[in-house]
Parts: sequence; C-alpha cells; structure tokens
Amino acid sequence: MKWYRLFGSEEGLKTALGNAGRKMVRIGEKRVCLFFHEGTYHAFDNLCPHNMHSLFGGNINFLKEIVCPLHGYRYSLKDGRECEGKSGDLTIHSLEIRADGVFLGLRN
Ligand code: FES
Repeated sequence: MKWYRLFGSEEGLKTALGNAGRKMVRIGEKRVCLFFHEGTYHAFDNLCPHNMHSLFGGNINFLKEIVCPLHGYRYSLKDGRECEGKSGDLTIHSLEIRADGVFLGLRN
C-alpha cells in the first residue's frame, strides 16, 4: 500500500467533502471517491468493477454498501465484495486521520 497526504487536517477533509459528504480525488491515473456517511469516512475506487461506470453518483444504503447508479450492483464498503456475486469486487482504500494530516492508503 502506498500512502498519500491529501489534506493538512480533518478540517480540510471536511471542507473538501462539503455538504454532500463526497469528493473525488485523483492520484496519478486513478480516481478515488471519498465519502462521509453516518460518522465514517470511506475511500474506494471510482470505477464500478461491473462496467466501469463512475460510483461517485452512487449512494450508500443502510447495509453500508455503495450502490452503482448505472445497474444497481452493490459493493460492501468494508471489504469491497460485490454483494450478489455478479461481478468482481471493488477496491477499498484506507483513509487515516493522523496528527500531521489526512492520508490515503492506495491498494494496488
Ligand atoms: S456499471 Fe456499475 S453496476 Fe453496471
């Protein structure tokens, strides 16, 4: 896993997320969705493993799954597992709030 410092503080993260509670960041060629939902921050790949649609416009359901806005496939925000076994799994990244900033840990 490779770590990137995204913001200088949690306040900076909150400001970037705004009222919508979501922000897309770009690290090289990769786009990562940052979401704030019910007191928890989440970071995951923007592209849906099913057909590469953006998940940024998706919503998080009561089971803490991100629901793709195109065909409705659901991915666990805990481990990225696609909930009905119909496609590959989503890559979930780590987001850590440390004394010296907010860091994104990119997987793969
Ligand atoms: S592109 Fe996401 S469910 Fe089909």
